[in-house]
Amino acid sequence: MTHMTLEFKESLEERCHQILRNMEASLTARDRVGIQDFVLLDAYTSECAFLDNLRKRFHENIIYTYIGTLLVSVNPYKVLDIYSKKQMDTYMGVNFFELPPHIYALADNVFRTMQSEFNNHFILISGESGAGKTEASKKILQYYAVSCPSTKLLNNVRDRLLLSNPVLEAFGNAKTLKNDNSSRFGKYMDIQFDHQGGAVGGHILSYLLEKSRVVHQNHGERNFHIFYQLVEGGEEELLRWLGLERNCKNYRYLVQGDCAKVSSINDKSDWRTVQKALSVIDFSGNDTENLFGIIASVLHLGNIQFKADSRGYATLNNNKEMHWVSKLLGIPNQVLQQGLTHRKIEAKTEEVFSPFSVDHAVYARDALAKAIYGRTFNWLVNKINESLANKDSSRKTVIGLLDIYGFEVFSINSFEQFCINYCNEKLQQLFIQLTLKSEQEEYEMEGIEWEPVPYFNNKIICDLVEEKFRGIISLLDEECLRPGEASDLTFLEKMEEKIGGHPHFVTHKLADKSTRKTLERGDFRLLHYAGEVTYCVVGFLDKNNDLLYRNGKEVMRQSKNSIIQHCFPASEPDSKKRPETVVTQFKNSLVGLTEILMSKEPWYVRCIKPNEAKQPGQFDDVLVRHQIKYLGLMEHLRVRRAGFAYRRKYYIFLQRYKPLCPETWPNWKGTAAEGVKCLIKHLGYRPDEYKMGRTKIFIRHPRTLFATEDAFQVCKHKLATTIQAKYKGYRVKGDYLKQKEAATKIENCWRGLMARKECERRAWAVKVIKKFIKGFMTRNQPACVDNSEYLAYVRQSYLTRLRDNLPKTVLEKDSWLTPPPLIQEASQILKKVYIRHMVHKYVRGITSQRKAQLLLKEQTSSMFKGKKESYPSSVCRPFVDTRIALGDINIKILQMIQHEHIKYSVPVVKYDRNGFRPRLRQLIFTQEAAYLVEEAKIKQRIDYTSLKGVSVSNLSDSFLILHVTCEDIRQKGDLVLQCDYLFEALTKLSIIADKQNCIQVVQGSVRFDIQPGREGFVDFKSGQESMVYRAKNGHLMVVSLELI
Ligand SMILES: Nc1ncnc2c1ncn2[C@@H]1O[C@H](COP(=O)(O)OP(=O)(O)O)[C@@H](O)[C@H]1O
Ligand SMILES: [Mg+2]
Repeated sequence: MTHMTLEFKESLEERCHQILRNMEASLTARDRVGIQDFVLLDAYTSECAFLDNLRKRFHENIIYTYIGTLLVSVNPYKVLDIYSKKQMDTYMGVNFFELPPHIYALADNVFRTMQSEFNNHFILISGESGAGKTEASKKILQYYAVSCPSTKLLNNVRDRLLLSNPVLEAFGNAKTLKNDNSSRFGKYMDIQFDHQGGAVGGHILSYLLEKSRVVHQNHGERNFHIFYQLVEGGEEELLRWLGLERNCKNYRYLVQGDCAKVSSINDKSDWRTVQKALSVIDFSGNDTENLFGIIASVLHLGNIQFKADSRGYATLNNNKEMHWVSKLLGIPNQVLQQGLTHRKIEAKTEEVFSPFSVDHAVYARDALAKAIYGRTFNWLVNKINESLANKDSSRKTVIGLLDIYGFEVFSINSFEQFCINYCNEKLQQLFIQLTLKSEQEEYEMEGIEWEPVPYFNNKIICDLVEEKFRGIISLLDEECLRPGEASDLTFLEKMEEKIGGHPHFVTHKLADKSTRKTLERGDFRLLHYAGEVTYCVVGFLDKNNDLLYRNGKEVMRQSKNSIIQHCFPASEPDSKKRPETVVTQFKNSLVGLTEILMSKEPWYVRCIKPNEAKQPGQFDDVLVRHQIKYLGLMEHLRVRRAGFAYRRKYYIFLQRYKPLCPETWPNWKGTAAEGVKCLIKHLGYRPDEYKMGRTKIFIRHPRTLFATEDAFQVCKHKLATTIQAKYKGYRVKGDYLKQKEAATKIENCWRGLMARKECERRAWAVKVIKKFIKGFMTRNQPACVDNSEYLAYVRQSYLTRLRDNLPKTVLEKDSWLTPPPLIQEASQILKKVYIRHMVHKYVRGITSQRKAQLLLKEQTSSMFKGKKESYPSSVCRPFVDTRIALGDINIKILQMIQHEHIKYSVPVVKYDRNGFRPRLRQLIFTQEAAYLVEEAKIKQRIDYTSLKGVSVSNLSDSFLILHVTCEDIRQKGDLVLQCDYLFEALTKLSIIADKQNCIQVVQGSVRFDIQPGREGFVDFKSGQESMVYRAKNGHLMVVSLELI
């Protein structure tokens, strides 16, 4: 923080230097362009020096000069290139004195002060007619329109604010001798800003429109612009519809000044601007139609003329104009005619119409025209206000712009000038109060050493005009209201009587000789603060009364034109109750205005008119010196020089600048005054730069304040960044903590959930295990609650295991999983079913060949299984169709037996019946018989019918004995054979010969017939070695290998 304030201190000094450098730079050029702030004038009490400086600058086209924060502006009467967008940008956000004086600098300062202090301000623009007030107010408005923050909505408001101007000027401005675009009404405009500085709305107050201009203009002057704009610029069709001709000379209300055309005014293009503006500020087609209907009807009304009939009463002689007024205002012709030529008088019980004289009729006509125009103007202002209104109720700050008619002196001055100059008198009084008087009073109050500056206080003139009972206004009202014959002259006499001795009032009668020469009999002269003005009393009473005959209003109430209906409401009290006189209304409105202004911070623009000829480059010393004097500029300068540029209550000052000093930031514990002392000590203010009052600090030079302000701006941003960073940090931390808390919460919940689940799971497991154990313990009891689940589990688990371990083939059937006792029966059934299933599957999978083979094997099995020792080892040896291919059988043999169909052939060893010699032979089975063949010889044919039986041993030998029926001795006997394919050959034989039952397996020995009647034996036994030999007993001994 200390580091930061050090930096500020440095930048504060740097800023001070920079400002000084800028000021010095302008000082070096002062010989040529003069000085830019009169406060720096050496001879600050000299009017000549003041005038010289102003003139010097004027000739260099530098029209703006400051007196402190007051801006003096001299009308250049030529277009200067100082109002561009670039210029606006240059002045945006830059302090006074850092750039040459400019209306933009003032506007910008007002805006920024409003923004930072959040209070209301007004800019009082004063100066005599033609000095440049209206232009200045427009420049300020334009500056805000460009420089304020904008959005689409705000742009809308901005456009309306800007465009309300040309409309109001068209209807309220006119060419006068002093100014080609003179405002003939007073205007106070509030611009409302939201807290971000955006222009969000506006409100306009208008003051006393110079209505008399509608019916009468002095030579060289014009009526209100709008009439000329309509006639010159209006489209053909519109004019036709309004019954107008494009020639101003045709209208009485436009020709009296004899200067309808003015070179500085382009009515045609102004007309277009107004048209466009009307559409932007929410005027409907109907509104504009009605509005121009009214303008046209005023012109027609002006052309209505009266003629005296034989009795001297007014009659209408121009029915055409009458017709147009009646059409445009929507009032029946008859009613209108009656209203213009008769006056309604109320006798006790009845109403009587009394005819007008021609003069009266003209007067009533003009009164009506003025009333219509005046009220329409008020309607217009209200309408614009509606379109500018900001509907949002949040608090706004405002900048008020007061552009009111300037002090005016013509060769003949009437009631209007009296009002206008009175208004200026009041504003001067306000200025005095707000600056000179209050400033000096403040120094006194605050106990600041001070040498009072004498100044002329115009309160005496204000009192002369407005004092109750004795003031001119009171006297005028009195004359207007009193019964009896009152006239302008009786009014003059009354003034002479009541205020004759007043130093600021003189009349022909009261004047000394030399003065009397300058006064007419009907004149009175006021010594205004701004100079002498001679008023001609003629018309004062009339204008003040502003009487519209009662039936005039009634006629208007019948109008179909909606604006007229609005302007002449039925609710308006009629003439029985007198309305307030014009001057009293005006006085009251000025009191209202003063109140509005007093509640705001004042800023001033003083406009000066360099010459009466509206010429560029001409600087009329006498004229300007006069204005300097009456505008009180010298007094203002003296007060400024002696005084202080800036003052603020201690607490406000401290509140704003306390960040610039570590001791006062963020909070000062002591009193505000002590805080400020500490603060400025830290900032290094020199003793001559400031004074400490009772409640306020007074700073002598603006530059000191600006440097402080600049330092504050820098500091503000840094503080904002720090605060922002801290706040963001705080927010982020908050978010983080919240997230963390949330995460922990979620974690806790989740963990809780998981733990509960785990606990449930365990509880369930315990239950299951318990049940399991109990089930296990009671597994052998009959099914009950305790073991049912266990048993089911056992069953299921066995079945599941069984499913995974089923035997793969039929042969593995012994690998069937051993079932628990509980499921034994089911297991058996399952096993059976499953084996059947496998068998079924196996069977379905075997070929027909293999099937035939198996059938054979089955045959073999039925004959030998369990009977012969070598049978099991033969099972796996497949059978074949034949053991001897046809080609290996002798051809002769084939020829002999082929017709019997050879079914099977096998090599055998035949043992001779006598001696048992072994011989290799072929054994062939045909369909009919078995043949024993040696080469080409059939050794023996055994018809199947004669085959009695076949014997084989029960041992592992491969002998077979074929027993044949032998009746004939020549026939060969039984055959003893040895065949390696014993089972195959016998199976084939049993099938071919259909001899299944005649094959016998015998033990020990076999008897056989060598030939009928002669028997032999073959003995079988098993031993260590297989042998075949003839035993001593003559039997054939067959020893077969003992199989274990
Ligand atoms: N800043 C200016 N630059 C150029 N011409 C100006 C300027 N101010 C005033 N004028 C000229 O002077 C005329 C009168 O100014 P205006 O503002 O209407 O006077 P006021 O409102 O004080 O009676 C304007 O029409 C314009 O021609
Ligand atoms: Mg003006």
